[in-house]
Amino acid sequence: MGFLGRLFGDSNTREEKTMTKLNIGIILGSTRQGRVSPQVGEWVKGIADKRGDANYEIVDIADFNLPFLGTTDGSEPGIAEWNSKLANLDGFVFITQEYNHSITGALKNALDFAREAWNDKAAGIVSYGSTGGARAAEHLRGIMGELKIADVRTHPTLSLFTDFVNGSEFKPAELHLTNVNAMLDEVVSWSGALKTIR
Ligand SMILES: Cc1cc2nc3c(=O)[nH]c(=O)nc-3n(C[C@H](O)[C@H](O)[C@H](O)COP(=O)(O)O)c2cc1C
Repeated sequence: MGFLGRLFGDSNTREEKTMTKLNIGIILGSTRQGRVSPQVGEWVKGIADKRGDANYEIVDIADFNLPFLGTTDGSEPGIAEWNSKLANLDGFVFITQEYNHSITGALKNALDFAREAWNDKAAGIVSYGSTGGARAAEHLRGIMGELKIADVRTHPTLSLFTDFVNGSEFKPAELHLTNVNAMLDEVVSWSGALKTIR
């Protein structure tokens, strides 16, 4: 317990909450066979890990085997595991691909499967598609507002034409590095700030 905690007998002071490293989840938004999101997620994690400013981990929606919301009694272990994983994260980076001008059904379903675990946290978006996944990313921002996730401004957009070979092998242009780091700066700073009000 730090000085303020000792003074006020409170282990949850602002000082305490900002001392430990933040946990940031890099969420893979697609689940289809042959998806490219793991390549993009690993690239972001590689950049993030070099910073040493937070604990970064890949969170793959596919690992949780979430049913389609409302079609079961909700007792599948993956649902509780998904909520518990999110509850332990302080912020997110959504690896967002564009499907019919929006996010994937899998990501929307996963977003709908939690509520409090998303609240008062920050998130950045890394998107891809024929126009950088921009339309999907803007839809995601609207959803995040409802879930009380603070979405940061800087948004790296990757082109299926110039950052991928044949739309499948990820070869990102060097210029994205600056944007990814700027986005992570914002996610870490806002995640730290929001931790103090939870
Ligand atoms: C159902 C479906 C719809 C798509 N719609 C769009 C689209 O509207 N705009 C776009 O830029 N790309 C679209 N794409 C292309 C995807 O962005 C591209 O296949 C990307 O690799 C998908 O991400 P993933 O490999 O991680 O699943 C679509 C792909 C699928 C499977």
